[in-house]
Formats: sequence, C-alpha cells, structure tokens
Amino acid sequence: MSLPRLLQLHQESPAAIRAELLQNLQTPQAHVSPKYLYDALGSRLFEAITELPEYYPTRTEAAIFSACLPEMTRHLPHDATLIDLGAGNCAKAERLFEALAPRRYVAVDISVDFLRAALARLQREHPRIDMLGLGTDFSSGLALPPEAGRAEDAARLLFYPGSSIGNFMPHAALTFLRSVHAACGSAPGSGLLIGVDLVKDAVELQAAYDDALGVTAAFNKNLLLHVNRLAGTDFRVADWQHVALYDTEHHRIEMHLEAVRAARVSWPEGARTFAAGERIHTENSYKWTPAGFTKLLQDAGFRSATVWTDPAARFAVVWAQA
Ligand code: AVJ
Repeated sequence: MSLPRLLQLHQESPAAIRAELLQNLQTPQAHVSPKYLYDALGSRLFEAITELPEYYPTRTEAAIFSACLPEMTRHLPHDATLIDLGAGNCAKAERLFEALAPRRYVAVDISVDFLRAALARLQREHPRIDMLGLGTDFSSGLALPPEAGRAEDAARLLFYPGSSIGNFMPHAALTFLRSVHAACGSAPGSGLLIGVDLVKDAVELQAAYDDALGVTAAFNKNLLLHVNRLAGTDFRVADWQHVALYDTEHHRIEMHLEAVRAARVSWPEGARTFAAGERIHTENSYKWTPAGFTKLLQDAGFRSATVWTDPAARFAVVWAQA
C-alpha cells in the first residue's frame, strides 16, 4: 500500500505570527490577514458559507466544471503533473482525475496537516497516481521544491479554483501570477486553470458577503477568537459587528469588523482602544471582468487565455497557457 509523501516547507514561528498580528492591530487602520479566518471552526464556517443561497461562487464554479469539462479536457494537458494550490480536502482536483489522468498530483496547502487524511484516502482510490502533499504558504509567491517533479519532463497543470485570487490586490495578483507562470516550467502544454469571481450587480455581491442567516458574520467574527489564541489578545466578540461593503470603484468586497461600542483590547505587553465605529479590515475579495483578468494573465507572462462562464456570467474558469 503506497502512502503519499508529505513535505512541510518553512513555517512562520508562533512568535513571528504574534508579532505581525500585534503590529497590524496597532496601525491607525488596523488590519488582520484573511488567512487567519481559517482556523478549524473558520474552515467549517466557510464550508457552511458555500451552501448558503446567497453565496453563488462555489456552486457556480462547480456548474461551469460540470457543463464545460468535456471542452476543457481538449485544452488541458493529460498525463501531467497536477499542482493544486490551496488543495484542502482535494475534492475539486479529484473531479479532474478521470478526464485528465494526471501522472502526479501535488496538493499544496499552508500546512501538510490539512492534507494528510484527504491525500491518504485519495491515494488508496487512485493507486497509480504519484502523490505528494506540500505544506507551504504560497501567498507571497509560489516556489516549488524539486520533490514536486522536474519541470521539464511532464506538462504542469497548475490549478487554483475557488476565486481565492480575489484576496490579492491587483498589483499583488500580478506578482503572484508571475510566480505561478514561472512554476509552470518549460514542458509544452503547461498552464494555469483558475477560478475567478466576476464583477456584477452590487446588491447581489453584498448579499453574498452579508447573508441573512449571519454565517458570514460568524465567519468574520470568529477571526477574533483565532487572533486571541495566536496573539494573546482579549477581544470580546460581542463588541464587534460584521461589515461587508462593495467598493464599486475598485471592484472589491471589503470585510471589516466594526466596534459597536468603545472597546479596549489588551495583551501581555500592551493595549489598544477602538472608538465605537472604528474598524479592523479583515478581507478584500476582488471581482474581475473577463477582459481585465485576461489582460492580467497576459501581463504575468501567459500566452493565451480561454474563458468559460456560467450563462449569467457570474463566475469564470480560465485556462491560461504558459
Ligand atoms: C475563499 C477567498 C474565495 O472571497 O469569496 C467568503 C472567502 N469571505 N465569504 C471569497 C469569503 C467571505 C472567499 N474566498
């Protein structure tokens, strides 16, 4: 019985995480990186979000894959190294296995701990695919270790579904996509298959990020509990409310936590007060037009882009040839 290999690259130390969180909480415009939305409870709340009637991205992306997979299959490399960015439970990539028969599957996530169980199961069901779990934080650029396979032998299919690219500011998205383009290597047929959420009516966007059940509010506020554990702060969740705003100029949803009353937050060596109405920025979720995203991919070095959308053009899946 072959077990998938697991490799953890450099992880930030708890002290470094704590220092960065406290520094960002003390700037006039306090902010916390959206990666801290995903502790164990946050990940389950995000899964609940994907089932909400208002949150269209996950089910729309799945519908595009269902409807367009036969056509996508003609563009995508077969017998490739499939590299799954933010793999989590590996379910989205597994849906490509049958059509594409990859020779290797490299699941990348911030920690190999998130990948262990899913990969072990996947390896049992697909014994002929060579599998590697890679723990690395690729948010500031993707760099694949030699264990991910030689870039020149098989085509590489980089897979980044879910529209997480929306968390990057446009200039950071460009830098990130350049690193992805470099990671595609030199074998012919390589490229990036990516999900992107599209610019649309503000009312629909607003509802998707401020749902009636309050699951997104819980997801956002839970970040405070995670920060309390990581940074030793004493945020009281009841002092904060969820705010989601669509900025029509920058085409982005902004998520904030807003103090409902004056709030004092302390930690072993310091404290900060927030006035009522003051906010902590927790996430940007940029929306793109097909033309704008195609231009971004070209600027990042990709040769061509093929775009598939749902009939209402809410979401796009894009194949970018390296
Ligand atoms: C996981 C980054 C794609 O931006 O839609 C969902 C996260 N935030 N609801 C998104 C999220 C609030 C999600 N991404």
